[in-house]
Amino acid sequence: MTVSIASDHAGYELKEAIKNYLDINGVMFADFGTNSAESVDYPVFAKKVCVSVQTGESAAGILICGTGIGMSIAANKHRGIRAACCADTYSAKMARLHNDANVITLGSRVTGTGLAIEIVKKFLSVDFEGGRHSERVGMYDSL
Ligand code: RB5
Repeated sequence: MTVSIASDHAGYELKEAIKNYLDINGVMFADFGTNSAESVDYPVFAKKVCVSVQTGESAAGILICGTGIGMSIAANKHRGIRAACCADTYSAKMARLHNDANVITLGSRVTGTGLAIEIVKKFLSVDFEGGRHSERVGMYDSL
């Protein structure tokens, strides 16, 4: 499984910490930047990760900004992308189980590094439940 990851300047440090976690745990990833704390526009980076998920190059995406909100709004503009902004592990689990989320967004100014890593761990380890949720998730694209 390859995961794509990106952040803006606010999320840069947390991105590096999450990359370290992925590395240590043998999860392959593609880093789409940004590569410093210099100010950038988060929609640009959201797009890079979303295209990677849309094309199947990555199975899932991780996007980080200050709150996680801008990244989730930008990501959810992309067809087929189901981005969930999560600040707790329960939401991360449910985002996979019921919503088949394929992108998680995190807020570096909201969530500490340790919890953010636990959230990513949960997100990457839970499968979509399917069943009654499949039809509902399928409805997203016709909205
Ligand atoms: C950048 O200051 C901040 O606005 C951005 O990281 C993000 O929180 C937007 O939603």
